Amino acid sequence: MNKVAKKLVLVGATSLIASNCARIWVQNGFNEVVLIGRDRKRLENVGCDLAVRSGRDDFSCSCEVVCDGTDAESVTETIDNICRDAVPDIVLIAQGSSLDMNEELQQNLSRLKSSLLLNGISPVLYAQGFARHMEKKGAGHVVMIGSVAGDRGRSSNYVYGSGKSLLDTYAEGMRHYFALKKCGVMVTVVKPGPTLTPMTADLVGKVKLADVKDVAKCIVRGVDCGKKTVYAPSRWRLIMFVIRNLPSFVFNRLNI
Ligand SMILES: NC(=O)c1ccc[n+]([C@@H]2O[C@H](COP(=O)([O-])OP(=O)(O)OC[C@H]3O[C@@H](n4cnc5c(N)ncnc54)[C@H](OP(=O)(O)O)[C@@H]3O)[C@@H](O)[C@H]2O)c1
Repeated sequence: MNKVAKKLVLVGATSLIASNCARIWVQNGFNEVVLIGRDRKRLENVGCDLAVRSGRDDFSCSCEVVCDGTDAESVTETIDNICRDAVPDIVLIAQGSSLDMNEELQQNLSRLKSSLLLNGISPVLYAQGFARHMEKKGAGHVVMIGSVAGDRGRSSNYVYGSGKSLLDTYAEGMRHYFALKKCGVMVTVVKPGPTLTPMTADLVGKVKLADVKDVAKCIVRGVDCGKKTVYAPSRWRLIMFVIRNLPSFVFNRLNI
């Protein structure tokens, strides 16, 4: 087993997709994990599970509660604390929700704003906050969980999708910045298709949902290979290529 210290940070650590990715990474040698989320008890449960799966006596896990992940000051303070001793090797940013119906968000600007803040702004604050520290170290990997919904605005979910699409442009800009600086920081956007997690519990029986363990394997494989974009499961790359490239006169007649 690899005895070199490797540090993983999960933001939105109670996410089932994120915790399943972390299970694989701790089995592959990550021995320090920091969990960020809203609820300490639930974070501690994730931490206990990872400790058991790690099987290492040098495994350590800590929890950071951030009640509002859109508050720049709390986010900065949390990140600076986490990076004080060691800058993480991987930060997986997973918070997000598509639970609100698009039609309700269209009618309620306050909820629309909350959706955009949660799915777009908050992940970007964390990505940029950790990237500042990684840049100084000259290494590190920022991974944001976006969605296939971010690839093209659709009638049924364009509020959620447009929040997610911010992650793509931001990640592209970060990669360009680090390339020009010749700095070894990597940035990946993960795009899961519909996956069985608490977020999609209402879709059971209505939509085919991927198994979260398969999705996590696909994500970890893609991140470990340094891919810029990871579709999980991988078939969504082709599906979204077709959807993105449908001409508007066809797309606007389809209820997809
Ligand atoms: N499952 C899918 O089909 C699917 C498809 C595409 C993309 N995704 C994306 O994958 C990521 C992980 O989701 P998941 O499927 O693993 O679902 P999940 O298990 O329900 O996790 C959702 C995560 O988002 C956090 N979250 C939800 N609402 C929040 C709020 N208002 N403020 C702060 N945090 C909030 C949750 O924190 P709490 O535990 O504190 O509520 C939890 O950590 C999300 O970004 C989601 O958009 C999922």
